[in-house]
Amino acid sequence: MLKSAGTTPKLDIEKIKSDFPILRRKVHGKRLVYLDNAATTQKPKQVIESITKYYENYNSNIHRSVHKLAEEATEAFESSREQVSRFINAASPKEIIFTKNATEALNVACRCISENSLKKGDKIVVTEMEHHSNFVPWQQISKRIGCEFDIVNVDEEGILDEEDFEIKIKNAKVLAFTHMSNVLGTINDAKKLTKIAHREGAIVILDGAQSAPHLPIDVQELGCDFFAFSSHKMLGPTGVGCLYGREHLLLEAPPFILGGDMIKEVHREETKWNDLPWKFEAGTSNIADVIGFGEAIKYLEKVGMERIKEHEQAISQVAIEELSKIGEITLYGPRQHYNRGAVFSFNVGKIHPHDVASILDSEGIAIRSGHHCAQVLMEKLGVQATSRASFYLYNDLDDVFALCKGIRRVQEVLS
Ligand SMILES: Cc1ncc(COP(=O)(O)O)c(C=O)c1O
Repeated sequence: MLKSAGTTPKLDIEKIKSDFPILRRKVHGKRLVYLDNAATTQKPKQVIESITKYYENYNSNIHRSVHKLAEEATEAFESSREQVSRFINAASPKEIIFTKNATEALNVACRCISENSLKKGDKIVVTEMEHHSNFVPWQQISKRIGCEFDIVNVDEEGILDEEDFEIKIKNAKVLAFTHMSNVLGTINDAKKLTKIAHREGAIVILDGAQSAPHLPIDVQELGCDFFAFSSHKMLGPTGVGCLYGREHLLLEAPPFILGGDMIKEVHREETKWNDLPWKFEAGTSNIADVIGFGEAIKYLEKVGMERIKEHEQAISQVAIEELSKIGEITLYGPRQHYNRGAVFSFNVGKIHPHDVASILDSEGIAIRSGHHCAQVLMEKLGVQATSRASFYLYNDLDDVFALCKGIRRVQEVLS
């Protein structure tokens, strides 16, 4: 049982914190308690330095020139791809496409599938807990092609309704769902759902924007056909996302953006696409930040994804206990600390979530308030918005207690 010590037994938090320069700053004269990790995470000095090192030492375009700098930049860029490939256990680095964020990765997947495998009357299935990035593309492509668009229900605890899933997945051609909810923290049993969807002959797209930063990921074990995630939510820079896709699906799919670098040959009448994965990476890539992303993954691997998961479960256990003790709080999402992420959406009586976030900010505590790009889920919960505190590897139990103290302060100020 965890007591009120500041740290959990899983990680050396003080050492980890010391790698993040921003965590040393004060906000409104108070210690920064950064609990907006589901939106974006902070960056360790190793990532920041890798970007500076690139610009100071070998800044150059990639895949083009033969000079030394270009060679070094290309090697660093492609070695990030290998790093990402190993991190999620893809069968080959060819299956890793760099995009600008998870949203773009999901759009690429949607485009690949819709152009090749969908026709009028086909069924696309998503869930009520999707982020807009994994909802709107499918909704819109359904309208354009004339597909049936089904949305699997979420129950009161924020867990996917399995019976409803079993009904809606029948004869589906596409299943797109989130591995971990950015609002509820719910972790879906992606392996099981994927297996059922494959039984129906559906292609499965997994939104890993919230799971890849926090859980060990093995795409081959999960069995999904596509997996999308973002560097900035896992200690890496903004401007880089990633789409994993099974090689044969990527080979069959048309490219998303056309132009330089994604071609092998261009003639007056015809163009031949480049090999994978470059067929999907048109134009100059975000080289520095892809290199920074590789460094972020090295950092996460060094700490260990299993340990990060256990650390966050320990935080969740205490957070659920402590938040539940606060009067008039409504906490959304699963009540069990295991098999859920350390993302806590809540409302405090009738106080507007923006007011909660503003008062917490004055205490140095950074959370998010709003609809979290999940308005379908907000409608289901019967609210316009929630406050959301989300934790990561550099947070500790002191941060949980600071949050709870801050919420009590909100109640004092506004009651
Ligand atoms: C579950 C989920 N999917 C997709 C996204 C989109 O990520 P990005 O903004 O990096 O494209 C987010 C971002 O919050 C998310 O939480």
